[in-house]
Amino acid sequence: MGGQFRYVYPDGEALAQAAATEVMRIAHNSISARGIFTLALAGGSTPKKLYSLLANDPAYRQFPWKSTHLFFGDERHVAPTHLDSNYLMIQSTLLSSGLVPSSHLHRVHAELPDAEQAAVDYEVELHMFFNDPAMRLNGFPRFDLILLGMGPDGHTASLFPGSKGLEEKERWVISNWVEKFKSNRITFTFPVLNSAHEVYLLVAGADKADMLKEVFVQRSQEHAYPVQSVEPIDGNKVWMLDTAAAERLPQTH
Ligand code: 6PG
Repeated sequence: MGGQFRYVYPDGEALAQAAATEVMRIAHNSISARGIFTLALAGGSTPKKLYSLLANDPAYRQFPWKSTHLFFGDERHVAPTHLDSNYLMIQSTLLSSGLVPSSHLHRVHAELPDAEQAAVDYEVELHMFFNDPAMRLNGFPRFDLILLGMGPDGHTASLFPGSKGLEEKERWVISNWVEKFKSNRITFTFPVLNSAHEVYLLVAGADKADMLKEVFVQRSQEHAYPVQSVEPIDGNKVWMLDTAAAERLPQTH
């Protein structure tokens, strides 16, 4: 049984540096323990600095890319060349370095016209990769590390408040209709998020402060917001925040 931890950093740069150090530490530990490192990447803007540090900063030159497999925790239903594509963001910040062997990159084929087909295809790829029961927990893939963000509305990955995907108990990857964007997203489900060894939430910016107060204080005992349903069964939930995001949290926590 893991725990929940929270760390606050002065700004986005310090958060990214600390996150890069943690990702590399977990990578080496996973490879020592299991011979491989399976990492699911987050989309959005907050992890951009982290990805570019891992790709360019000499401090992370020893990153074990040859034993690392990269996956996507969620993706927008757009082509990989579209500005909204999480793949495009990760391509420009990390993959363009050429450090990641192409066979170790497992992207969502979100260019497919049918989002459900893209979800099913990605699920099949995960089933094949996590075929060994030792790489599963209760039948779900057990990632070494899943990176997540959080929206001001408390969504994480593409599990948005009021969306059908919140209730999914069987599937690993689904297409989830997001009313406010009038679009589908392809996303990991909670059973997958909660089967990981480590789940790290990178949350930065003053626009997240109200929601973090809700999550940590006002409604800390409830599952009022999707991010509160991230509860690793046998793993750690680690929050890495910047001061602006943590502004409304009591110091004592
Ligand atoms: C996505 C993400 C999403 C993101 C949050 C926070 O595809 O958008 O996976 O869950 O992490 O929306 O986004 P920011 O980091 O841009 O604030």
